[in-house]
Amino acid sequence: MAKSLSIIIGSTRTNRVGHSIAEWVGEQAKEAGFDEIKLLDLKEINLPKFDTPVPPQYAPLETAEAKAWAQQINDAEHILVLTPEYNRSIPASLKSAIDYLSAEWNSKPVAIAGYGYIGAAANARKHLGEILGFLKTDIVEETAGIQLGDATLVDGAFTGAGVTSEETAIFDTVLTALAAK
Ligand SMILES: Cc1cc2nc3c(=O)[nH]c(=O)nc-3n(C[C@H](O)[C@H](O)[C@H](O)COP(=O)(O)O)c2cc1C
Repeated sequence: MAKSLSIIIGSTRTNRVGHSIAEWVGEQAKEAGFDEIKLLDLKEINLPKFDTPVPPQYAPLETAEAKAWAQQINDAEHILVLTPEYNRSIPASLKSAIDYLSAEWNSKPVAIAGYGYIGAAANARKHLGEILGFLKTDIVEETAGIQLGDATLVDGAFTGAGVTSEETAIFDTVLTALAAK
């Protein structure tokens, strides 16, 4: 059966490297057994900052943009959430998008990947794991990280060059585990 992966791009800022990293992750995902890759780019989706009068776990979604976002998550077969590390955690753009929904996350097969200058975004990945665990996703325990630095960013651009074989192997392990869910 064909396997589909949706990659949530958590960063939305101008000059982000997140989109290039998502494209690289998509190539790794194909090698790990996914046939179809969709990018759920939060910059393009452009959700307003979360502002729901009643928490989403207690009331139906009201706005058109919230319903459309919920539909995208419902339709996603497997999800890889890709986060940068901002101030030792995930960016507000990603947290806001996650907070929009509740039941949609329950039992959703998800995995986590991060990138950053400090410990390949270990803190952001840990926080994201706690959030997605609380939302009762069907989560891959292991997470994948890319260390940013002179090796991986040339003139500020990410092409996949400089990603270590160890990092690539962990991506393969995580994506293979996600594909098996
Ligand atoms: C507000 C802000 C805070 C940051 N804090 C961290 C941090 O705590 N740890 C880290 O490794 N990198 C940190 N960085 C560096 C980012 O990981 C790096 O700029 C990365 O490229 C951000 O992803 P993006 O380009 O897709 O937005 C921070 C960057 C920004 C903009």
